[in-house]
Amino acid sequence: MPSAPLKVAVLASGRGSNLAALIDAHGRGELPVEFALAGSDKADAGALRLAEAAGIATLALDPRSYPDRRAFDLDLFAHIAASGADLLVLAGFMRILDGEALAPWVGRMVNIHPSLLPKYRGLHTHRRALEAGDAEHGASVHYVTAELDGGPVIAQARIAIGAGEDEHRLAQRLLPLEHRLLPAVVGLIADGRLQLEGHRVTLDGSHLPSPLQWDETRGLLPS
Ligand code: GRF
Repeated sequence: MPSAPLKVAVLASGRGSNLAALIDAHGRGELPVEFALAGSDKADAGALRLAEAAGIATLALDPRSYPDRRAFDLDLFAHIAASGADLLVLAGFMRILDGEALAPWVGRMVNIHPSLLPKYRGLHTHRRALEAGDAEHGASVHYVTAELDGGPVIAQARIAIGAGEDEHRLAQRLLPLEHRLLPAVVGLIADGRLQLEGHRVTLDGSHLPSPLQWDETRGLLPS
C-alpha cells in the first residue's frame, strides 16, 4: 500500500509566488504532497488568496495581538502542528522566528532565501550582491535553525549577473528559478530522500558535502 503523502504547511507574508509554484507543481502531478495549511502574519497577503483559491485551509495571525514574539510563534506553531503538517515551508515569511519556539521543527522546516547562502543572510540580497560586484547570484533552500538564514543549505540555483543589471531586474530573473528550486526540494523531502542529521544534510542516506545545484535541464544535481 502506498504511504500517505507528506502533509505540508506553508507560511508566507506576501504575494505568494513560491506558494503558487508549489500548488502548480502539485497540480501537474509532480509533487506528491497534501497541503495542510497556508498561514501568514498578514491577513491581506496575496499568498492567502492563492491558497483559498486552491482550496487550502488558511490561517492569518496578527503579531500585534500577542505580548511578544515568542507568544506569537508558539501559537503559530501550535496551529501548524494541529493541521497535521509533517513539513513546514517558509516561502517569503518575513519574520524572525523565536529559537525556542521553532526548536521542535528543526529538521522538518525549510526556507527559500534569495541569495547564495552563506552570502547575504537577511534582507536586500539582490542589492547587496550587486554592490559587492558579484559575478553570480542565486537562491538557496535550507533547513531552518535558530540562526537567521543560517541552517544547513540543501540546494541552490544560480544565475550570472549581467552588465548594467539593477536590483529589480535581478530579482525578477531569479524568481522563476526559485519557483523550480523549491518544489524540487520539497519533492525530495516528500519522497523521503532528504534528512537533517545534526548539522548535516543527507540525501539517500549519504552526507551531502555541498548543496545540490539546480540545472535547468537535469534538475537537482550534486555539485
Ligand atoms: C522570494 O524571493 C523568496 O526567496 C523570499 O521572499 C520572496 C517571496 O516571494 N524569501 P513570494 O511571496 O513567494 O512571491
